[in-house]
Amino acid sequence: MRVGVYQNFPLFGQVDANIENAIRDLSSVEADLIVLPELFNTGYQFVSRQEVENLAEDVPSGKTCQAMMTLARDRDMFLVFGLAERAGSRVYNSAAIAGPRSFVGIYRKTHLFAEEKYFFDPGDTGFRVFDLGPARIGVMICFDWIFPESARVLTLLGADVICHPANLVLPHCQAAMRTRSIENSVFSLTANRIGTESRGGKDPLRFTGNSQILDSQGRLIAGMGDEDTGLVIVDIDPKEARDKSVTAQNDRLKDRRPDFYRPLTDQP
Ligand code: ACM
Repeated sequence: MRVGVYQNFPLFGQVDANIENAIRDLSSVEADLIVLPELFNTGYQFVSRQEVENLAEDVPSGKTCQAMMTLARDRDMFLVFGLAERAGSRVYNSAAIAGPRSFVGIYRKTHLFAEEKYFFDPGDTGFRVFDLGPARIGVMICFDWIFPESARVLTLLGADVICHPANLVLPHCQAAMRTRSIENSVFSLTANRIGTESRGGKDPLRFTGNSQILDSQGRLIAGMGDEDTGLVIVDIDPKEARDKSVTAQNDRLKDRRPDFYRPLTDQP
């Protein structure tokens, strides 16, 4: 399976231009699955909920989903991409999955980061795994990384590959995702953006790039720099993620002792 991550520098609010740039960059790609960044079409640093509402789109009838569905069909590939989703009076920081034959599904970000809490509704889908045929993919978005439960739940739901659209500003995610891949024996595709946004007199946000693809042992098998745009693609065998053994006597899933994990699900 050929998988890739796309790293961009979106122009805030310029949805048409951001979509056009992604289509230009991906229109000759030969791959089975490409992950794009969180909010790849809008930019990140919103200053009001109204601004999110103005840029959010219905899924899958909005123009971003429609454009990505056309691209997925034309290139015979799956695309996972972040966008602001409108659903009635709610707005979510979401990731949509478009496939060569149909729209596949949506994930709404579970753990909102910093001021996202003022502008977005907390995701209500829970973590989801989609069987694409060559691989089962699980989706989480950016700050979900700091909660190891996100990747663990996706693993328990059967994910071989974690697709991780991101707009990272903290320094530790790329390193933490190595652990997520190692402890769960899953591939992880973190698609980040670059550049700085400084809007509405707020402190500037610098996005860290360094998008990466990790194999199921946490090894970096493809990566980008902190100023690159474009994409990297590698061949993987998703079935490697189905071997959860650590030693001849140990298995990451079968050796779990959930009886002792109750505090994980008790409300504080
Ligand atoms: C983030 O969740 N965009 C940091």
